[in-house]
Order: sequence, then structure tokens, then C-alpha cells
Amino acid sequence: MNLIITIDGPAASGKGTLARLLSESLNLLWIDTGLFYRAVALEILSQQLDPSPKNAAHIASQITAPVIPSSQLRETEVSKIASCIATFPELRSALLPIQQYLANNPPQPYKGAVLDGRDTGSVVCPHAHAKFYLNASIEERAKRRALEQNTPETQSQEHVKKDLQQRDLQDSQRSHAPLVIPQNATVIDSSALSPEKTLEICLETLVRMGIMPS
Ligand code: C5P
Repeated sequence: MNLIITIDGPAASGKGTLARLLSESLNLLWIDTGLFYRAVALEILSQQLDPSPKNAAHIASQITAPVIPSSQLRETEVSKIASCIATFPELRSALLPIQQYLANNPPQPYKGAVLDGRDTGSVVCPHAHAKFYLNASIEERAKRRALEQNTPETQSQEHVKKDLQQRDLQDSQRSHAPLVIPQNATVIDSSALSPEKTLEICLETLVRMGIMPS
């Protein structure tokens, strides 16, 4: 069986960490779908292209493998462009078959895939074996993101918080594949949970669902 698990949720809710831990525990290919939007955004910036739906879709059509993470992909400017171009149906349609193909055909020795993003349980893999929706308070998410970016000063945290709120709004209000809690998803609030505890809850859920032996 090719096991497919999806994790959706807003920015800095801990999706990436949980996806990495699940991929290591269960030997699953980790597909960070946000990186695809970031890779397209970075290419637009580096080539100084107009961030049009046509340009974005063309760049996306050349992606054939999971995007390798880098610090450049996490830069604020890249995040802003990524969130903006993610509203283009043309770009989403170009990325969809690539993400679905990777989820359904992970290379050996993977036993399946874990995807994280905003629409992985609702659009990319609506038939996933297990779906999680991870959330956390805006304060906690801003704290985590500021620490991640090495900017723990109170003023910077306020700035990070505003930035996250802006992205939350854009991601949940777009008309095409907005951020939603997918049907049948297990919702977890990670505000007061360590990454290890969050993983434990997910593994317990998989056992309860009969996906994993106890
Ligand atoms: O998760 P991450 O912050 O890396 O994603 C970057 C941007 O890509 C998000 O702000 C969101 O707008 C977009 N995205 C998306 N659908 C996904 C994953 C990310 O629209 N499945």
C-alpha cells in the first residue's frame, strides 16, 4: 500500500516539522507543497519576470521533483510573491499533476508520502488515508517564525505577526483552493504542544484509524 498522509494549516503552525517527523518515523517521502510556490516565486524574482499567471505556470511546468529546501526560498520577498501567485488558478493547475504524481509514485525505498501545505487534503490528495489540520494561536506562530528567522525582538515579532495575518487572509480568502479544514481531517491545536507530542498524537490517531498497528 502507498500510504498518503496530508497536513494542512496556516503559516508557522508546525506543519513542516510534523511532516518531517512523520516522514522519518514512517519512511514516507516528504512533499512540502509550499516549496513549489516558493521555487516559482524565486525564479520570477531572479529572472526579473512579470509575476503573471502565464509566467508562473510556465516555470511550474518545468518542475519534476520535490523542491530542495534552501534559506533563499524562505526569504520574506519570496514568501510575499509565493502567497500572491498562489492565487492564480493557472499556477495551481500546473502544479497539481506534479504533486499528485509524486504522492502516488514515491521512489524506493519510501512506503508512501506525507504532504504539507494549504490544499493537500482538500485538492491534491482528497483520498488520502489520513488527513491532519494543524493550527496554533497567532501569538505562538509569530513567536516560532520570529525565532526561526532569528528576530526575537518584540518589535520584530509584531512585524512577523502582521505578516502572518496578511498571508492567512490571502490564503483563506482566495477563490481557488483556499485554506480550509479538509473533510474528515483530524484537527490539532499545536499552540501548547512540543513537536514530539504532536507526532505522538498523530501516530495514536493512525493506530486508532487502523492505518498503523498498535
Ligand atoms: O507553506 P509555505 O509558507 O512555505 O507556503 C508558501 C505560500 O505558498 C503560502 O503562503 C501559500 O500562499 C502558498 N501555498 C498554497 N498551497 C499550498 C502550499 C502553499 O497556496 N498547498
